[in-house]
Amino acid sequence: AEPLRVGVAGLGTVGASVLRLLDRNAASLAARCGRPVVVTAVSARDRTRDRGVDITRYEWFDDPVALARAPGVDCVVELMGGSDGPAKAVVEAALAAGRPVVTANKALLARHGAALARLAEERGASIGFEAAVAGGIPIVKALRETLAGNAVHRVSGILNGTCNYILSRMELEGLSFDAVLADAQKLGYAEADPTFDVGGFDTAHKLAILTSLAFGTEIDADAIHVEGISAITPLDLKMADDLGYRIKLLGVAERTPTGIEQRVHPTMTPKSWPIAQVMGVTNAVNVMAEPVGELTLVGPGAGGDATASSVLADLVDVARGLQVSPFGQRAETLEAAERLPMQRH
Ligand code: NDP
Ligand code: HSE
Repeated sequence: AEPLRVGVAGLGTVGASVLRLLDRNAASLAARCGRPVVVTAVSARDRTRDRGVDITRYEWFDDPVALARAPGVDCVVELMGGSDGPAKAVVEAALAAGRPVVTANKALLARHGAALARLAEERGASIGFEAAVAGGIPIVKALRETLAGNAVHRVSGILNGTCNYILSRMELEGLSFDAVLADAQKLGYAEADPTFDVGGFDTAHKLAILTSLAFGTEIDADAIHVEGISAITPLDLKMADDLGYRIKLLGVAERTPTGIEQRVHPTMTPKSWPIAQVMGVTNAVNVMAEPVGELTLVGPGAGGDATASSVLADLVDVARGLQVSPFGQRAETLEAAERLPMQRH
């Protein structure tokens, strides 16, 4: 069978893991897809940087947009990051050429997801973004496919690995905020600009995606009330602990009588609750829906390999020829998200 020829734009933490995983699992992927999945082209800023993978086997592009249009590429994987600039140009160029895109870029989707979904539908292409929400947890497919027969009432959880890692190590090891953030950066968990993590914006980007999938609304990150963890001190954690609570950065989207309320903020969670026991880089997503009831998915929320697992899930869909509307229904049928003021609970 004809191989699926993949171009990878961005060879950092996630991109390098994707190359390694595609190599390591080549035989099982070929069997599962009925055809080989092979990388033919790559792009990053610095051609000479040691990435721990041999990139000389692939065609190199200084310009990632040229990669997106290259004749030897069937599918484009965007792992550069950023809501505008080159990442957006790459995704638009690939979709305009009718090529499927796989991306982990929640900032891009939160800002331009609706327009990109319309472009994909016009050109008969797909956008896979399992990796964009909660790293290795398969929540995008769960909401879009597995739970498609439900009415969702609420989706919530710990959606940022860096913040949960910081809060956990500050509490358990008494380390400073800055020291743990530096470790999260070394481990490849944090965004290129960690303000997105600690300011709550990355959680908001992911929540915006989940809201669209869960409630059939057009993605709108500006509809979300956002507070991050930058102001949390060791004393706050100690006082919460003394009272029997843990502080967690939660994203919550729920149906209220006036519309879908979306919010991101540090939350006092009783230590006996399962969500309070989720520590380190682990994420957890809780869904309340009818008729299924309540379910929670827990797993690694950041890191190269966990995220590569989700990128490969989308590549397998492409190789198998599966295609669904990016947000689970045609973009023109998504309702406008309401911009509700946050209600204090
Ligand atoms: P990194 O910063 O590690 O890697 C970014 C890559 O993009 C680098 O290889 C960089 O090149 C390349 N790049 C940046 N700008 C350009 C450009 N203008 N032209 C060509 N290449 C460019 O990021 P991550 O791998 O951590 O993240 C990638 C994406 O995945 C982001 O959208 C992020 O939000 C998302 N994500 C990350 C997770 C994680 O745990 N790290 C988890 C889930 C999603 P060079 O190496 O030469 O500098
Ligand atoms: N910076 C993000 C996090 C990466 O820490 O959760 C995964 O999306």
